[in-house]
Amino acid sequence: MRKRASQMPSGESFSSSFTSSSLLSAILVLGSLGSGLAGDPFAHFDWTVSYLSSSPLGSKQQVIGINGLFPGPILNITTNWNIVINVKNELDEPLLLTWNGIQHRKNSWQDGVLGTNCPIPAGWNWTYQFQVKDQIGSFFYFPSLNFQRAAGGYGGIIINNRDVIPLPFAMPDGDITFFISDWYTKSHKKLRKDLEKGKDLGFPDGILINGFGPYQYDKQLVPDGITYQIINVEPAKTYRIRVHNVGISTSLNFRIQNHNLLLVETEGSYTVQQIYTNMDIHVGQSYSFLVTMDQNASTDYFIFASPSFNSSKFSKAAGVAVLHYSNSQGPALGPLPDPGESDAYVSMNQARSIRWNVSASAARPNPQGSFRYGDITVTDVYVILNRSPELINGKWRTTLNGISYLPPSTPLKLAQQFNLLGLYKLDFPNRLMNRPAKLDTSLINGTHKGFLEIIFQNNGTNVQSYHLDGYAFFVVGMDFGVWTESSRATYNKWDGVARSTTQVFPGAWTAILVSLDNAGIWNLRTENLDSWYLGQELYMSVVNPENDTDEFQLPDNTIYCGVLSSLQNDQAQRFKFSSASSTSNGRKIFLIALVAIAFGCFVLLPS
Ligand SMILES: *[C@@H]1O[C@H](CO)[C@@H](O)[C@H](O)[C@H]1NC(C)=O
Ligand SMILES: *[C@@H]1O[C@H](CO)[C@@H](O)[C@H](O)[C@H]1NC(C)=O
Ligand SMILES: *[C@@H]1O[C@H](CO)[C@@H](O)[C@H](O)[C@H]1NC(C)=O
Ligand SMILES: *[C@@H]1O[C@H](CO)[C@@H](O)[C@H](O)[C@H]1NC(C)=O
Ligand SMILES: *[C@@H]1O[C@H](CO)[C@@H](O)[C@H](O)[C@H]1NC(C)=O
Ligand SMILES: *[C@@H]1O[C@H](CO)[C@@H](O)[C@H](O)[C@H]1NC(C)=O
Ligand SMILES: *[C@@H]1O[C@H](CO)[C@@H](O)[C@H](O)[C@H]1NC(C)=O
Ligand SMILES: *[C@@H]1O[C@H](CO)[C@@H](O)[C@H](O)[C@H]1NC(C)=O
Repeated sequence: MRKRASQMPSGESFSSSFTSSSLLSAILVLGSLGSGLAGDPFAHFDWTVSYLSSSPLGSKQQVIGINGLFPGPILNITTNWNIVINVKNELDEPLLLTWNGIQHRKNSWQDGVLGTNCPIPAGWNWTYQFQVKDQIGSFFYFPSLNFQRAAGGYGGIIINNRDVIPLPFAMPDGDITFFISDWYTKSHKKLRKDLEKGKDLGFPDGILINGFGPYQYDKQLVPDGITYQIINVEPAKTYRIRVHNVGISTSLNFRIQNHNLLLVETEGSYTVQQIYTNMDIHVGQSYSFLVTMDQNASTDYFIFASPSFNSSKFSKAAGVAVLHYSNSQGPALGPLPDPGESDAYVSMNQARSIRWNVSASAARPNPQGSFRYGDITVTDVYVILNRSPELINGKWRTTLNGISYLPPSTPLKLAQQFNLLGLYKLDFPNRLMNRPAKLDTSLINGTHKGFLEIIFQNNGTNVQSYHLDGYAFFVVGMDFGVWTESSRATYNKWDGVARSTTQVFPGAWTAILVSLDNAGIWNLRTENLDSWYLGQELYMSVVNPENDTDEFQLPDNTIYCGVLSSLQNDQAQRFKFSSASSTSNGRKIFLIALVAIAFGCFVLLPS
């Protein structure tokens, strides 16, 4: 017997209440960047993160859900809203959620990665509070620690335009989100153990679409009884389809049988609107397409996500969902859409064809292209090289410029706040150095208001996706071979798309430009979970030297750990932080901190 899980577009209901609580406004304004903020709406959410039982590929396994949902709820919000999300960790290990592509202007305190936040211990809750300032578009959130994304915990973020700013296309008739991902039947705990032992994860056991296994398109490949996703649509209507690759490390080719994908947006930028029959979507990337239901309804149609590369070696089931017109006459029929196997050359050409629509308005009424990035002088250049995992001090590790990131037990942002010396260095090298690979906590010293050029050079054998928190960057070039100064002649200085995640093909480079206007400590990582887990990340510190109140202040509910753990109230009182007496509290905390710092520096000075 086959099981079906149907989804009506935009039909979900979310537990968001909508208030403009003066208390919360007050808290935000206290730590905020001045006026205007209090006028923007607040949206409150309560999320419980816990294990659920699910059998996406036929055998029962533990997945991570939010409020009982896998994938988690969609955060459907609007430009400039203030988001308050109380996250309760019911897992058996620490948790942080990070918001892929949300820029957290001057507020890296809310970024939810190990360099900015202490993990939320098992059984605790913590409330994120941030504004989606000047952003629109399609993003997703996911758990950032301990390989948890391999078990789920992800969900979509939709930031709608404010009413005063028109979309650069007709309002679609519906909105449908797809999460596509490679999937293993091993738990995230077993997978990370394997990686620590130097084992390659090998090919995934299948590809999921929205947390569901494939339609039984092939009796050999797909066992009986798999629940698959059905998308219900109306004939002749046009839907906005948002697709996120939330997987571990597999680039996926997405397509819908007999239907065109009109690309309109990627990670918060409107693109030049172009028709594709399929799209390679790399890990961590998000796209919006408009799809018109323009086929006759003689049958249902397949929706397909399969590995972009080496698909002939992928002997497991591809991801297959079903597009069902309300007047459909019968089940979808083969042949399956062309397997979409591309080589890296074809895929790179497709990537290069994605352009910024310079005349479209995004979150503000002015055209996207009014920021003439091609005219700005570059202030700093980093050529960042990765290679395949290597043994460092007897452990399998990945590196960037020969450095494998070593997270200190005290988050960098807290170390900076409390002037804890010696926990990190601002010495990340501009190039690969002629020295042995090492583990280190080495940050890029970002020049505030500088204009940074980063070239990612991929010396490994897999596509790597790089993501920078806190920013969108311009993707200005990619090519095979080794980048040289003369490669700059090929840069797109006019309509390279601004996004937060870019792919770097094996044996190739990708160049990005980014304007460092967002103070904070920001994570630059590969989104490939296996490489990330082994150390392929770094942080960039951007400090406004003229104004030390330019960033949001330490949140009242900060969790302390590492050298600062003595500041953390004990478990029984852990949620009793008071904002009313924050000044005297602050002073007390400062004194304790001094003691802790003196003690901590003594104990933790690197040998
Ligand atoms: C998001 O919320 C708006 C109302 O604010 C609603 O019109 C729209 O259908 C919702 N989108 C989704 C995908 O639920
Ligand atoms: C934990 O949740 C409670 C409500 O259930 C809330 O009052 C409290 O502020 C939360 N704690 C933190 C640190 O966010
Ligand atoms: C509907 O489409 C199918 C496949 O493209 C075609 O064989 C069939 O003739 C079409 N039916 C009508 C009524 O247009
Ligand atoms: C660019 O955006 C404008 C809206 O400002 C829209 O009218 C136009 O069709 C878009 N151009 C392309 C090529 O997508
Ligand atoms: C970081 O850069 C700033 C200028 O942007 C400079 O003043 C400071 O000395 C640098 N810090 C280190 C440790 O290099
Ligand atoms: C395909 O797999 C081979 C190893 O089997 C690898 O060298 C190659 O880079 C892969 N291709 C891509 C585009 O990932
Ligand atoms: C990595 O670098 C080595 C040495 O420069 C080179 O021989 C090799 O081809 C490179 N591999 C890739 C995939 O770029
Ligand atoms: C420092 O930044 C804050 C917040 O952006 C701003 O209100 C203040 O005017 C700035 N101070 C100076 C001296 O620029």
